[in-house]
Amino acid sequence: MPGAVSTNERLVAHVDRLAVEHPPIDLSSVDFTVRRPEVFAERYGHVLDYMARVELEVDRNVLEIATMLPDPPPIDVHFYRDVWQPQEIQHGLILDKLQVELGRPPAQPDRDSMGLKLKVLGALSHLGAFQDVCRMLYYLTGMSTERSAVLAYNLLHDGVVEMGETAISETVIAPIKRQEPGHYAFYQLSARGLWDEIAPWQRWLVRRMRSISFSPVGANNDEQKADFGDLMQSIGVTGDRAADFAAQISRVEKELLWARDAGLVVPPYVVAAFREAVELAEARRAG
Ligand SMILES: [Fe+2]
Ligand SMILES: [Fe+2]
Repeated sequence: MPGAVSTNERLVAHVDRLAVEHPPIDLSSVDFTVRRPEVFAERYGHVLDYMARVELEVDRNVLEIATMLPDPPPIDVHFYRDVWQPQEIQHGLILDKLQVELGRPPAQPDRDSMGLKLKVLGALSHLGAFQDVCRMLYYLTGMSTERSAVLAYNLLHDGVVEMGETAISETVIAPIKRQEPGHYAFYQLSARGLWDEIAPWQRWLVRRMRSISFSPVGANNDEQKADFGDLMQSIGVTGDRAADFAAQISRVEKELLWARDAGLVVPPYVVAAFREAVELAEARRAG
């Protein structure tokens, strides 16, 4: 279309703006003063640990992306290597330092182990048409994880303000949460653009693979799923708010993948994954 701005041009402009407006947060800008460290650690220590781990695991995510997408568009590489990874690593380092200041052990991120499934996807991805399926899955995962981050940091911020821990809310949580919407926007723009381009069989495969592979952000095994269930409880995502959380992180995914399914509120695999996290957390608490 003459005069139309292509998705790629919009992505390039978006990533350039993120690079300029959101440099990685400098550790020296953070004030780690906590007025009531014991109370804070009791309420949010495990939340900090979960978030620090997930943020630090972007190192592994970058390896995963490189494996899954052997021939990615240059804008994807520019985004994840030059903008996204440096920002997220700082989020992780800051949150981890905060929990150590509170007397907790540092997070234990898995920075480099990659599953067989991913290697198989990577091998298949050398076929261009299959790589587009993997790219679509990557954007969908990016959307749901970044939207989860936005919502979780907002709720954590409210809780930290309410506790009167001003240094932490203003110099840790607020600066981190400001950087997440730009990540979400990148994946959303990418997902919408690619969905329009791919063929019906590719869309079918995306729906199938997404249905069997969805998990909440950072929850890769039962232990981590239970940790996620605990996190939801600690930031107040229970009952109706959990349903709302699931709906918000999958809104665009529902619109794109399941448009024909009129009346669907949340994709069932998202609801099931959240329910499983809550149940695993409850079972673990019950011993
Ligand atoms: Fe982050
Ligand atoms: Fe992010």
